[in-house]
Amino acid sequence: MSKTILITGGAGFIGSHVVRLFVNKYPNYTIVNLDKLTYAGNLQNLVDIELKNNYVFEKGDIVDKKYIYNLFEKYKFDGVIHLAAESHVDRSITNPMDFIMTNVVGTVNLLNAAKESWKLNNKKNHLFYHVSTDEVYGSLGEKGLFLETTPYDPQSPYSSSKASSDHFVRAYGNTYNLPFVISNCSNNYGPNQFPEKLLPLFINNIKKGIELPVYGDGNFTRDWLYVKDHAIAIDKIFHHGNIGDTYNIGGFNEWKNIDLIKVLCKQMDIALNKEQGSSASLITYVKDRPGHDKRYAIDANKLKNELGWEPSLQFEEGLAKTIAWYLENQEWMDNVTSGEYQNYYKEQYS
Ligand code: NAD
Ligand code: DAU
Repeated sequence: MSKTILITGGAGFIGSHVVRLFVNKYPNYTIVNLDKLTYAGNLQNLVDIELKNNYVFEKGDIVDKKYIYNLFEKYKFDGVIHLAAESHVDRSITNPMDFIMTNVVGTVNLLNAAKESWKLNNKKNHLFYHVSTDEVYGSLGEKGLFLETTPYDPQSPYSSSKASSDHFVRAYGNTYNLPFVISNCSNNYGPNQFPEKLLPLFINNIKKGIELPVYGDGNFTRDWLYVKDHAIAIDKIFHHGNIGDTYNIGGFNEWKNIDLIKVLCKQMDIALNKEQGSSASLITYVKDRPGHDKRYAIDANKLKNELGWEPSLQFEEGLAKTIAWYLENQEWMDNVTSGEYQNYYKEQYS
């Protein structure tokens, strides 16, 4: 069946993997990638699919109500996969308002446009899929896992904005019968991640011999998932998830930051042909992130049992692939760190 799908934030890290998967796997769909191209949006992430017939790029801001309504009018979307967001916790601490605008106001704009456009009289053919984070559940102690039923307890401006947008999506389902699904995922890693996040930042720093800033004592736990496995989970949930449900997505793969960084350092020494211990010598403990959540860990068994999804990669394998990608794509990293990537839209699209 042919469909026209709006994917927001498709020039970002996870969004670009979702766009590529959908464009390649569903040639009968039209995939419209809407992205504002903030500092985190990079069209060079999509060079391999940008000329495909079933792919369209639209530059725009989800906060701009008129623009969003016109876009729904123009394409008559069957479904929305909403990833566009301000996504970096550290930035949310210094500039929370950007997060409220995009993550909350932008999401409500999209919900309103979907509600109006779909008239909600043909529920089965429409779906609003909101891509969210495990951070909405707050911080765990030494034991326990986040379930879909875990009460929300967001602690940072970022997670508060994502929790708020999750609540709005559910409220539109409850109040206006908007068909929706939400997934809450753990930390992603892999190719094309902006080098402000832990792994690409540290890979780049090691390559350049720059210190590795470990926040606090480094004993903070995250659950890591290879980004392509997240994209596959999104595909499964979009096509087979229960309307109105929430699915947790995680890697069954918890690491304390400092242990993960040590494994990264070992693999980087091998990849760069350096003496063992040389990357680790760059580890520097720095001031902690304010309000730093101690531990996240996901129970993804609902997704596994109901939809048959499981992570395909062991962590060491995923990490080796990730390191290899960043080392082979030094030009991508140079363009991102110099700001050169922001000229690509002007050069290719205008
Ligand atoms: P990212 O920061 O790499 O990309 C975000 C994209 O959204 C960028 O392309 C940016 O240009 C675009 N964008 C930002 N503001 C916009 C606006 N106002 N209008 C239109 N486009 C806008 O983020 P990511 O890491 O790929 O995360 C994508 C989504 O997944 C986010 O909703 C995030 O909360 C969620 N998520 C991320 C992770 C993770 O580990 N990175 C884990 C779980 C959930
Ligand atoms: O859990 C899902 C979330 O994971 C997503 O919703 C967010 O969008 C994504 O950014 C990520 O949030 P984190 O804050 O966990 O990711 P980050 O890469 O910023 O940090 C990972 C851990 O490493 C965290 O405990 C903070 C620590 N850290 C991070 C950086 C950038 C450091 O110790 N030093 C650093 O320089």
